[in-house]
Order: sequence, then structure tokens, then C-alpha cells
Amino acid sequence: MALHIINHPLVQHKLSIMRNKETSTMMFRELLKEISLFMGYEITRDFPLEYEEIETPLQRMNAPTLSGKKVVIAPILRAGLGMVDGLLALIPSARVGHIGMYRDEVTCEPVFYYYKMPENKDRLVIVTDPMLATGGSACDAIARLKRDGYTSIRLMCLVAAPQGVKAVQERHPDVDIYLAALDEGLNERNYILPGLGDAGDRIFGTR
Ligand code: PRP
Ligand code: URA
Repeated sequence: MALHIINHPLVQHKLSIMRNKETSTMMFRELLKEISLFMGYEITRDFPLEYEEIETPLQRMNAPTLSGKKVVIAPILRAGLGMVDGLLALIPSARVGHIGMYRDEVTCEPVFYYYKMPENKDRLVIVTDPMLATGGSACDAIARLKRDGYTSIRLMCLVAAPQGVKAVQERHPDVDIYLAALDEGLNERNYILPGLGDAGDRIFGTR
């Protein structure tokens, strides 16, 4: 399925500030929220509408209202949490699930530790995680959602390496990917280059 790169100038400008190692935790978190709102605008662009007759103070009209699947935002912990508030500002009625996983520092393989999603599987799931590096975490998170019965899934990341995009496209060709930037590659520790460092640590100020 499609790879969407949101190259809106405001998104690119804000992302450049986030990449700068001098940017504070407070600013990093705020910018991630702002970019998530812009990306949410694009991720919802094809949402279907239906027409409902309403009465304005002047006359009757057929007014467009959203008609598609309801939304679940599913952040991959921890860093994916930083993208939730921006999306909720756009889709305040969305449910929020949680997928707990971290990347083992030595093997770089994802390790699951928590999973909680709404019971109704007939929803569109927007998986959020700022970093798509090897793609292992996103691929396993999406596989877990599919095993649970979700069939309509989109992946929203901030920065990706080509390897991560390829991994998701090969393992989950039905999942559209939304990015703010496709970077050059990975270093020997599977960090994205040029990237922005460890997103979880920068959001939560843990290093
Ligand atoms: C980071 C990031 C992704 C994952 C990406 O999480 O937020 O979940 O690594 O790497 P991958 O594509 O190679 O799997 P991390 O393990 O650092 O956990 P954290 O969010 O709790 O800091
Ligand atoms: N996780 C991060 O937070 N950053 C990277 O560059 C790769 C994985």
C-alpha cells in the first residue's frame, strides 16, 4: 500500500528543530504534538462523508458529516505516546489503545510487555511511533493487532529509515505508512541517520 510523506513546509521546519540536539525536552514534546496534528490532517483526508439534512437559521441543507469507521489511536510505548495528543485534538472521540514494547539494546529485537485495545475490532487503528528504524517494532505491533482481529490499520511515524519502510511494506502490504521524513539509513546500532536520536528519551527527558 501507499507511502505518504507529509512534506508540508511547517512540518519540515518543526522537524528540523526537533532534530537539533540542542532542542529542549519541553520544545521537543510540543513540536511532536504539533506535527502529529498536521499529519493527522493528512491521515484523515480520505475519510468518507455522508449527507444529513439539517436546518441552518436560514434554510434546510444537506450537510456533510463523517460516516466511516470510528478511530482507535494505538501508540507503541513509550515514544508513540508523544503523537497521541495531536491526533486527539483532531479526532477527540477516538479511543486510545496501548501497545507496550521496547527494542532490546543488544539484539534490537522488539520485546512485548503490554497490550490493551478496545473490544470493538471494527475500527480504523492508527498506530503511532515517531521512529521506524529496522521496522521490527512496527511490524510486530501490527501483527499483534491483526491477530486480535483488527483489519483496518494505518501507521504514522515521524522519521523512517528505508529499511523500516521496506520491512513494513513486505510484511504488511495492506498498511498505509505516513511519515514526515524518509532518512538515509541506519548506523551500526540501528539508529536512524541523520534521525533525531532516541525519541523516547528526548520526549520524556530520560537521558
Ligand atoms: C524505539 C522507537 C520504536 C523502535 C524503533 O523504541 O520508539 O518503537 O525503537 O526501532 P525498530 O524500528 O528498529 O524496531 P524504544 O525501544 O527505544 O522504546 P521507548 O519508546 O520506550 O524508548
Ligand atoms: N529508536 C529511536 O528512538 N531512534 C532511532 O533512531 C532508532 C530507534
